[in-house]
Amino acid sequence: MGCFIKFSSPAILFMFLSLLLIPTSAHVQVNEGGYISAVISKKGLDFFKNYLINKATSSIIPLELPDIEKSKKIPLIGKVHMALSNIIIYSVEIDSSYVETGDPDLLLAVSGATADCGMNWEYSYGSWLLPTISDSGAATVLVEGLEVGLTVSLKEQGGIVKVILVDCGSHVRDISIKVDGGASWLYQALFEAFEGKIKSAVESAVTKKISELITKLDSIFQSLPKQIPVSDIASMNTSFVRSPVLSDSSVEVEINGLFTAISGTSMLNYYHKGFESSASCSSPAKMIGIQLNENVFSSGALVYFNANRLHWIIDDIPEKSVLNTSGWRHIIPQLYTQYPNDGMNLYISVTSPPKIHVSEHDIGGTIDLDMTINVLDSSEVIPVACISLKSKEITWPVSLD
Ligand SMILES: *[C@@H]1O[C@H](CO)[C@@H](O)[C@H](O)[C@H]1NC(C)=O
Ligand SMILES: *[C@@H]1O[C@H](CO)[C@@H](O)[C@H](O)[C@H]1NC(C)=O
Repeated sequence: MGCFIKFSSPAILFMFLSLLLIPTSAHVQVNEGGYISAVISKKGLDFFKNYLINKATSSIIPLELPDIEKSKKIPLIGKVHMALSNIIIYSVEIDSSYVETGDPDLLLAVSGATADCGMNWEYSYGSWLLPTISDSGAATVLVEGLEVGLTVSLKEQGGIVKVILVDCGSHVRDISIKVDGGASWLYQALFEAFEGKIKSAVESAVTKKISELITKLDSIFQSLPKQIPVSDIASMNTSFVRSPVLSDSSVEVEINGLFTAISGTSMLNYYHKGFESSASCSSPAKMIGIQLNENVFSSGALVYFNANRLHWIIDDIPEKSVLNTSGWRHIIPQLYTQYPNDGMNLYISVTSPPKIHVSEHDIGGTIDLDMTINVLDSSEVIPVACISLKSKEITWPVSLD
């Protein structure tokens, strides 16, 4: 009968989705009441890291550094006042980066990055004897061997994960300056006067930008909903139940995952525990493995049952004569005699909260149904038969491919 049901109501869609989702094989783990857990593998973390670095570099660029000034004694010339302004990093090239799951924090490092910088220079010198001499122009700076490392901690707090920057450092190995125009002594003078200052300006600008980015990332996490409505009556509790567990180059997160009625009835007592044995996707090819406890399905089914949504009318099937008394003329002549050529429908209702069980190889359910056969005589609906289906346990085999 199932194949005639149209996926028109969210309740049906939910039931069928429940059956399509595939459980994964198990390894035992203690748990604190989460019913959905996800393991982000090394591959997933790498993907996330690359995404973050791309986002970070594109949001950092162009990065303006503060102006720098300095007076310096130059042989044969005297004391020269020099200033750099409009110092802007306009591109960053990253050579390699890696992410590592420490205990308890997440480490991210970028090494061998290069950055291109543009700036304006000017200088002036003179004495009471000579008129002031000044000049100005542009220069480019190549920053080489830029290393950045940061340590981030992920902590669950009131159902939400906080992203905390524990440590962040940056180091510049080398810079080289290319001066357009200017006097012949200028390159060496600029380099000597400003090498250290440019390096530390780049380092502190990068560190500052990264801590701003982590704050931004944290506020994105803070704005994640703790409940996601899935239909007009049910929502899923997406609260984190504990801090992400970092191990083995992977991150495991666990959310409550139970369905609750939007009207607010809490059903926590209905379920004793989360995963008795929790699953993990062992295939390294996957970026993320998600496992669902059977209580996720059962809680959803209970919400729809309590909201009186687990009933359906089937009135349109390909074989039209089955839902017309004329089709039953020879089998149940009395029906046809009493209601000639009338349409019929089937009303199916679930009579107790369905229980769904998930095991390694199959998904099973216990669903009690009442099926009523109605005749539609003009505007009247006349029940002519009722069948109670008490299913003990229906199972659907699941393949793990
Ligand atoms: C959602 O899950 C969290 C964590 O398990 C729990 O503390 C909270 O009470 C749940 N919220 C509702 C509405 O059930
Ligand atoms: C039932 O079938 C008869 C004979 O095919 C047809 O005349 C009649 O319109 C059908 N009734 C409905 C409600 O479709």
